Amino acid sequence: MNLLKDADIDPGPLAGKRVAILGYGNQGRAQAQNLHDSGIDVVVGLRGGSGSTNEAETAGLTTALIEHAVGSADIVMMLAPDEIHAALYSEIEPYLQHGAALGFSHGLSVRFGFVEPRADLDVFLLAPKGPGTALRSLYREGKGMIALWAVHQDQSGQAREIALAYGRAIGCARAGLIGSTFAEEAEADLFNEQAVVWGGVPELLIAGFETLVAGGISPEVALLECVGELSLIAELIEARGIAGMREAISNTAELGATLGGRRIVDDGVRARMAEVLAEVRAGQFAQELSREEASGYPRLERARSDARSTLLEQTFERLREIEG
Ligand SMILES: NC(=O)c1ccc[n+]([C@@H]2O[C@H](COP(=O)([O-])OP(=O)(O)OC[C@H]3O[C@@H](n4cnc5c(N)ncnc54)[C@H](OP(=O)(O)O)[C@@H]3O)[C@@H](O)[C@H]2O)c1
Repeated sequence: MNLLKDADIDPGPLAGKRVAILGYGNQGRAQAQNLHDSGIDVVVGLRGGSGSTNEAETAGLTTALIEHAVGSADIVMMLAPDEIHAALYSEIEPYLQHGAALGFSHGLSVRFGFVEPRADLDVFLLAPKGPGTALRSLYREGKGMIALWAVHQDQSGQAREIALAYGRAIGCARAGLIGSTFAEEAEADLFNEQAVVWGGVPELLIAGFETLVAGGISPEVALLECVGELSLIAELIEARGIAGMREAISNTAELGATLGGRRIVDDGVRARMAEVLAEVRAGQFAQELSREEASGYPRLERARSDARSTLLEQTFERLREIEG
């Protein structure tokens, strides 16, 4: 693994350059503020009437309409939601300066062909491996968030240096920048979202809660057991690795984990994980995302309202009120 840190990276490629951040959401807010605090000339590009204009200006940032921000910038960062990148790119392409650099924080739209950048552009990826809120708070603490970088097009011969300098300016190189590709970043990220941390783990918690309640355990105890202990194990794994976590728990818990874990996550689960990866690589999920956006997000709306009405959620709210 090739890991680069602040000391390995020349900040020069961003000197005197203007960066346009398109979108002031989770990542846009954090990256714009970190760049600004690193002394970079930043403009936040927003659509007319955007509710984010006030917020960005209050944070001391310059804002402009998207086309003006793009036209004035040497480097343009696509930090609007992935599913609108195709439409947003078509809108901005006429305003992109000849030879500008176009950056992404997720490989999806390039990997799956939603954006086909003009041939004269440098195209790079700088993908922080965590949410924007943490990217910003780590930066303010003088720390950084690990990130992947990659180059898709290198017309100037400087795309690698621009990507690395950008990763340094948003604070990620304090932790480290890892070389990757758009395909590797996009496929691994989409796989994890579905099969592991964001898809698999919550469903495992729900299944455990429902099994205990069906077996006569009170919802409060079931929730404390199955959901309440998640942050403890996450902290242990982050600090000590999975083997270290097992060594830190009681013999009772360790034997339970040893006997039970593989029984639940068996070969069937691994086979379905392989299916998910194959579907991601074939572009099936990217098409689903596109269809979901085009039809006004019906499945996301339904899933959000269904999730709010479950016994698990009601128990969670009750316990939260009790705990204050
Ligand atoms: N969420 C994360 O922390 C995270 C982590 C790693 C990578 N990423 C990547 O970072 C990128 C941005 O993700 P995000 O979660 O930060 O997005 P987000 O919070 O959903 O982005 C919201 C911003 O996008 C703007 N926007 C929405 N639709 C738009 C449109 N049609 N035209 C112009 N602007 C529009 C919004 O404008 P208004 O202000 O006008 O509403 C808002 O400023 C994605 O590629 C994502 O995969 C995100």
